[in-house]
Amino acid sequence: MCNIVVGGQFGDEGKGKIISYLSLEDNYDIIARGGVGPNAGHTIVYDGQEYKVRQVPSGFLNKNTKLYIGAGVLVNPDVFLDEISKFNKFNIKDRINVDFQSGIIEESHKVKDKRDENLSKKVQTTGSGCGPANEDRVKRVGKMAKDIPELKEFICDVAMELNNAIDEGKKILIEGTQGFGLSLYHGTYPYVTTKDTTASAMLSDVGIGPKYVNDVIVVLKAYTTRVGNGLFWNEADKNTKADDKKADNRSNKLLGDLKISEKLAKIREEGTVTGRARRVSPFDFELAKRSAKMNSATMLALTNMDRLFDCANVRNFDGLPEDAKKFIKIIEGEVGVKVKIISTGREYNNTIDLRQGIR
Ligand code: IMP
Ligand code: MG
Repeated sequence: MCNIVVGGQFGDEGKGKIISYLSLEDNYDIIARGGVGPNAGHTIVYDGQEYKVRQVPSGFLNKNTKLYIGAGVLVNPDVFLDEISKFNKFNIKDRINVDFQSGIIEESHKVKDKRDENLSKKVQTTGSGCGPANEDRVKRVGKMAKDIPELKEFICDVAMELNNAIDEGKKILIEGTQGFGLSLYHGTYPYVTTKDTTASAMLSDVGIGPKYVNDVIVVLKAYTTRVGNGLFWNEADKNTKADDKKADNRSNKLLGDLKISEKLAKIREEGTVTGRARRVSPFDFELAKRSAKMNSATMLALTNMDRLFDCANVRNFDGLPEDAKKFIKIIEGEVGVKVKIISTGREYNNTIDLRQGIR
């Protein structure tokens, strides 16, 4: 059996937070990371301490869980080894494995990512070398993890190990990175990353077929943010000023009485990998609907609710203010999928979990 967590917007939805909660709550035998590579940064807060990971799975908190990086994922050996040693109190070294065929990011890829005008100025990539490394991979000239001596002790056949584990009845969580709007196929091309970012891609990244999937959890932030260039989804859809108004009116009509824009104006965030300021915009219903559909979402996880509503650290649904409940109802109505996990703070357990029972 496996569950998948993916981002439903433009990355930075709070997947790290949700995965860290699930890793401790659900006690997975295995957590496997899919996605592009170290361009994605996940932030985990545990006992007041903040951990940022770009390469190892965000589900590292639970020491009983084996960790894997799939063949589809790019690995920067320096970033990988650095994270393992930085977080050595979690004993990641002894339980992490990298697929022998994972692609490798070399220094030259990083240089190209930063020097190439189209990548650095137009797309405004993270500069982590992922795009150029994937280019080499597609050209069939890229290096593989099995060729890197420093990675030798971590190398295994991840796809086969995961499939054998499924056959033995083990429980797997597949963690996605980036977000739906950054998908090379389904996102806001050309302002996207260099692979698909949907649940199907995450399965393919780690080498598991679709029939073992139980839940697909699409993580959505209570508002939308973006680092790097490219319009928000509803902006990209607007061709004329009239369309512009229509989209705004629609958002206002749905969220009008909740006074969201005043709260959004005060929000300041920066990218985990790049430190660049994230642009902020209201919750985009069209984007959320598309991503729920194309990911086959079985449930939504809604994060950063405490930034919009007075609900910091609330851990049961009844403790939420009426406006927050109303907001959730509107999202469920528009997207057509239930919100089952609600994040009310940065710490992993500032979480309302509605997966069991009916509310
Ligand atoms: P690249 O993935 O570094 O090539 O960057 C392409 C675009 O995707 C840029 O706009 C990046 O800011 C964005 N991007 C890539 N990964 C993430 C992520 O994990 N969170 C947010 N934005 C990302
Ligand atoms: Mg991030």
